[in-house]
Amino acid sequence: MKKKLFIPATIILLVVITLTGFKNINTVSNIDDKNPLQDSTLVTGKDIYLQNCAACHKPDLSGTPPSFPSLKDISKKYSREELASILENGRNAMPSFKHLSKQERDAVIGFLLGEETTAEVTTNISPVENGHRLFVANCSSCHKAKPDDPEPTGVKDYGMKPAVLGGINKVYDFEKFTKVLNAGPCYMPSFVDLSEKDKKDIYDYLSSIKNDEMPRGKMMHGKEKMCRGRGMGMGKCKMK
Ligand code: HEC
Ligand code: HEC
Repeated sequence: MKKKLFIPATIILLVVITLTGFKNINTVSNIDDKNPLQDSTLVTGKDIYLQNCAACHKPDLSGTPPSFPSLKDISKKYSREELASILENGRNAMPSFKHLSKQERDAVIGFLLGEETTAEVTTNISPVENGHRLFVANCSSCHKAKPDDPEPTGVKDYGMKPAVLGGINKVYDFEKFTKVLNAGPCYMPSFVDLSEKDKKDIYDYLSSIKNDEMPRGKMMHGKEKMCRGRGMGMGKCKMK
């Protein structure tokens, strides 16, 4: 009697584990964690001053009065808030520095007040470089970009190895590539939340790579070959 009950209970337990397990596999929980969109570097308030202000106010703050006032001992004339307002709004021949981040403006004000300050500034990276970073962060645990890349650590023994994706443009156009990313075949998560631009950047990065070992382009050749997951049944994607 005990044994008969035990077997169905085990099966139910296994089914529950399997279902929740696959759910986790196919969910991208927080894509922002894996989104190295921009690079940032730390610059000092002095650097910001030299780049943005020194042309008019001179590197040593002395200016060329009366046209360009000296900023030496500026703390005697203005409070931090007043300086912030001058930078934000500009004044007469002095341009506004609203295009700098608040952090950068605060850092340069700190510098004028004799403090040692720093600010983080974002540096623009090219689309292909952005694609490269996104690929490393989001895809390289399962896919190689080039055949001689190190073996990915996230590959599961489901019978099919995720393809080497360099030179992807020879097999998928961008539209089909997007479809694969949104679908998330087999145990690949869906990247439906990744922006169109990020998908394009990844596509362009992968397209820029020379690779003789082509992706297989399975998704193009009929659904029966598609390795599926996510509530659609596991299809041909089976554990060995
Ligand atoms: C294109 C030239 C130019 C640049 C660049 C410039 N300024 Fe000025 N700045 C001026 C001029 C001109 C004035 C005088 C404005 C007025 O009151 O008519 C001024 C005034 C000021 C004043 C007020 C001085 C006073 O005694 O009233 C501060 C503070 C100041 N600038 C800070 C900065 C900082 C910080 C930067 C860089 C982020 C900067 N400025 C960049 C031209 C410039
Ligand atoms: C957790 C592992 C995993 C991650 C992460 C992953 N994939 Fe996949 N990918 C797979 C699996 C498994 C398949 C299906 C097996 C196959 O056909 O290669 C697949 C298939 C593909 C295919 C179809 C390949 C073919 O052979 O036709 C493309 C394109 C693809 N993935 C792109 C990406 C991109 C781009 C990323 C990152 C944004 C990514 N994948 C992230 C596991 C993953």
